[in-house]
Amino acid sequence: MRIAIIGAGSVGQTLAQGWSKAGHAVKLGVLNPKAEKYRSLPAAQLTTPAAAAADAEIIVLATPWPKTEAAIGGLGNLAGRIVVDCTNPLTSGPQGMGLEIGHDISGGEKVAQWAKGAAVFKTLNHIGAANMATAREFKVRPAMFVAGDDAAKKPAVLKLVGDLGFEAIDAGPLSNARLLEPLAMLWIDQALVRGRGPDFAFALVKRG
Ligand SMILES: NC(=O)c1ccc[n+]([C@@H]2O[C@H](COP(=O)([O-])OP(=O)(O)OC[C@H]3O[C@@H](n4cnc5c(N)ncnc54)[C@H](OP(=O)(O)O)[C@@H]3O)[C@@H](O)[C@H]2O)c1
Repeated sequence: MRIAIIGAGSVGQTLAQGWSKAGHAVKLGVLNPKAEKYRSLPAAQLTTPAAAAADAEIIVLATPWPKTEAAIGGLGNLAGRIVVDCTNPLTSGPQGMGLEIGHDISGGEKVAQWAKGAAVFKTLNHIGAANMATAREFKVRPAMFVAGDDAAKKPAVLKLVGDLGFEAIDAGPLSNARLLEPLAMLWIDQALVRGRGPDFAFALVKRG
């Protein structure tokens, strides 16, 4: 598939590697593709967000939460498009990590308001970036939940997540992003606060 990843930080770069390896055509969209920090990335993949998104079949948001509304605004009309939202609306302060919005709304649902008419899916937010292209290296297949409302477009997103090596699991409607964003906090807490480190994933196992 033709995939546009908006943002080329930890998540954007790793997803680009993983999907390129799986045979997808990936473009990375950043505001300044010529910036020194992107020198090591394949030049053919790097472009502006609007150019990356123009003919993409799937648009993936890998931007910091505070920049996400503006990033979506730079992509033009997204009606009818598939948008995969990997962002997390996290805050940090003296009390530790928190959610900027949550419980009765989610970042995923805000993204759907900003990307009017797009089919928005929340996924690839509840694991550390370093595991996103190495899911096949786990002894038990890591789980990756996918929440979104468009039943017709969901199989394409589940397939794309599966192509990275995850067990892609339909997590129901986009409003269940309210569950997946705190799950990202649990992953971060385990990795950084409980001392587990970043090389782990959640898995779903069945009795019998
Ligand atoms: N890091 C993780 O392990 C992880 C895991 C799961 C989910 N997430 C979530 O995924 C998102 C990205 O995380 P990250 O760690 O990859 O962030 P990051 O390393 O800070 O990278 C963010 C990227 O977004 C770009 N960007 C900023 N504003 C933009 C705009 N308006 N249009 C296009 N690109 C823009 C930045 O470019 P410039 O720097 O050039 O502005 C940079 O390339 C965050 O919402 C995070 O919460 C992160």
